[in-house]
Amino acid sequence: MIDQKITIIGGGNLGGAIASGLIKSKQIEPSAITVTRRRLNLLEGLKEQGVYITSDNLEAARRSEIIILAVKPYQIFPIIEEIKPALVEGKIIISLVAGIGLQKVEEASGKNVMVFRAMPNTAIAIQESMTLISTNVAAQDKRDLIVHLFDQLGKTAVITEDLMAAATVLASCGTAFALRYVRAAMQGGVEMGFGAEMAQFITAQTVKGAVQLVLNTGTHPEREIDKVTTPRGITITGLNEMEHKGFSSSVIQGLVASFNKIEKG
Ligand SMILES: NC(=O)c1ccc[n+]([C@@H]2O[C@H](COP(=O)([O-])OP(=O)(O)OC[C@H]3O[C@@H](n4cnc5c(N)ncnc54)[C@H](OP(=O)(O)O)[C@@H]3O)[C@@H](O)[C@H]2O)c1
Repeated sequence: MIDQKITIIGGGNLGGAIASGLIKSKQIEPSAITVTRRRLNLLEGLKEQGVYITSDNLEAARRSEIIILAVKPYQIFPIIEEIKPALVEGKIIISLVAGIGLQKVEEASGKNVMVFRAMPNTAIAIQESMTLISTNVAAQDKRDLIVHLFDQLGKTAVITEDLMAAATVLASCGTAFALRYVRAAMQGGVEMGFGAEMAQFITAQTVKGAVQLVLNTGTHPEREIDKVTTPRGITITGLNEMEHKGFSSSVIQGLVASFNKIEKG
């Protein structure tokens, strides 16, 4: 169980999904969760599940030991200023904000506070996020606590902050990249005769199964590919055609382009 109270400032896509996922995990009482946003009516669903909702960020920050900042990048510093009086010794801030480093959040929050950065992806809504965490906090019990929290919402890994930009591309943008493959395969499926819905179902389950093979066994993807590719067969013909058209190269170049975009700011 998570004994600490948790406040989520910014109950939008990500903040709302975290609250829902934590409730589903049953590792925390809904009444121990506070969520804020300005349009409170959009938090009614969480309120009905027992979450405390408010538009008062300072009050919300006072209620909890752990404060998750799930707002847009331009809002993070005004909000830290707003909740500053609540940032007393022992509070933990987790910033989900992409592109803003630990040091800046630490400087803005003051020395009483322990700061973490977490980079989840949108599959957090179904507790299947890949969440990367970095921090300068040395205390192992606090690090374990934050990992345990995000473990309720998918899989978690702790990385050094210099890898956060790469993590953003691979894990957060990665959802869009993977789904673009799914869409392309669906289009191929429709051209070969399936209706769109059936093509989506077949493609999505196939991708899920392929990924699960690698996740469950830790086998290199190429080993699983070898099992499907008969010499002179159908699969290798299609696969090589994709490679001639630049499949792997396009994926790598796309990832690197996103990475360079983050680095340039
Ligand atoms: N989407 C991703 O895959 C992803 C992955 C990793 C990290 N992130 C980061 O997560 C952050 C949130 O992303 P998101 O997609 O969840 O954005 P979002 O849906 O726009 O959520 C932001 C929320 O903040 C609320 N908000 C704005 N001003 C506020 C204030 N003064 N006080 C309290 N709440 C306020 C907004 O609601 P109201 O307008 O009603 O106030 C909105 O619901 C971003 O910084 C993003 O970089 C996103």
